[in-house]
Amino acid sequence: MQLMAVESYSSMKPVTDLSVAPAMIHFETHLSPDPTLYFGNRIVDELGPLVKQLAPDRVYLVTNAKLLGLYGFEILQALKQEQLECVVIMIQDGEKQKNFHTLEHLCEELVEQNISKASVIIGFGGGCLTNIAGLAAGLIFRGIHYVEMPTTLMGITDSCISNKQAINGAKGKNHFGMYYAPSFLFADTHFLTSEPMDSKKAAIVEGVKNGLISDAALLDYFETILQRRLEAFSELDFHEFAYRIISSKLRILARDPSERGSALTLEYGHTFGHAIEFLTNGKVHHGFAVAKGMCIAAELGFKLGLIPRSLVERHYHLFGALLGLELSIPEEISVDQIICAINSDNKKTAEGTKFVLLEQAGECLNPDGDYQVFVKPEVVRCVLAEYKNRFRLQRPSKGRKSPSHLEGDVAPC
Ligand SMILES: NC(=O)c1ccc[n+]([C@@H]2O[C@H](COP(=O)([O-])OP(=O)(O)OC[C@H]3O[C@@H](n4cnc5c(N)ncnc54)[C@H](O)[C@@H]3O)[C@@H](O)[C@H]2O)c1
Repeated sequence: MQLMAVESYSSMKPVTDLSVAPAMIHFETHLSPDPTLYFGNRIVDELGPLVKQLAPDRVYLVTNAKLLGLYGFEILQALKQEQLECVVIMIQDGEKQKNFHTLEHLCEELVEQNISKASVIIGFGGGCLTNIAGLAAGLIFRGIHYVEMPTTLMGITDSCISNKQAINGAKGKNHFGMYYAPSFLFADTHFLTSEPMDSKKAAIVEGVKNGLISDAALLDYFETILQRRLEAFSELDFHEFAYRIISSKLRILARDPSERGSALTLEYGHTFGHAIEFLTNGKVHHGFAVAKGMCIAAELGFKLGLIPRSLVERHYHLFGALLGLELSIPEEISVDQIICAINSDNKKTAEGTKFVLLEQAGECLNPDGDYQVFVKPEVVRCVLAEYKNRFRLQRPSKGRKSPSHLEGDVAPC
């Protein structure tokens, strides 16, 4: 195994040939605690010895039926080679299943299957599944070893680098959870080969976000690379993509490991995004909701005179023209509902809700030292109404109500 610091890997040449697939590298995550992120392409053989080091009495592989069918054999083989006993537990994942019911079912099933304080849980799946498995690991016997094995670009580049485990509640996303650090993270980009393209696009949104908030050069990279069709990207193109997004996130965390200062900017677009994702019951995927959320946040910044129109348009270009995302607020959600969801957002303070806003491409505003800006509720309402109206007016008119019948919430301000 090769030990390499993130800074030195940054200067390596991009990999384009499967025959020279990069060796597994170790990223420091800069979180506290700081689980090592083992990152590579086709590195499953390396999993067994790493799990063995945790000296488990038994390993519990928590996954879903599809992923077990696709990759279960090689994972179980890798564990078997180290004489590790493994019990497979399948759960249903997805935003709708990320709830107390699934969590309780999983915890009780693990206990039923004789899990002990010396066992290891491996969460193998997308962000929803690993969130549930990680939370179960944190709860069972007040915490047992947890290994996170993400299978989506979002999982590899974003959700696994957080120590955050959470489920949704009746009133909002990620309302119940805890910080619980995995013993290590194991990210093999080979698993991305079966990930649907839309799911990958959702993760790229978070990568673009990293560029918008902290890395203007990364933004330029996305603007160039996304001229190519994603469908034509190879396995190692996505490997490089993942590497660049991880590196940008780790640079942010290196500056603020406690995530109480500049790393709060990672929430750019999330206050609006979470509201849209929640109100559509997960129909709008997390990443796509965040893309809409960033466009709304950019409009808010423009409305307040903080950023030029060109930077707002850059959002629409990246997310709309290049990634091909639909950026409207869904018809079925009203501005009132979004305001209501924002008010129960998990970032709400006693004084109200603050927003992460840009100062320029690659930099966020920081008027009070917490990289967030209080905005008067009436301005937020106004921007949301205008945003909703803007896309409504762009839609084909067939079957649409006439302007005089539009909801009150979209009246121009
Ligand atoms: N903890 C954090 O800090 C953090 C950060 C970002 C996102 N999240 C959470 O992550 C969730 C989104 O996760 P996600 O984007 O990974 O999607 P997901 O977990 O919702 O997975 C989407 C679908 O893809 C399937 N899938 C996963 N990997 C696959 C593969 N390799 N091949 C084929 N199908 C595959 C899953 O089974 C699922 O049906 C949200 O709930 C979000 O809140 C958490």
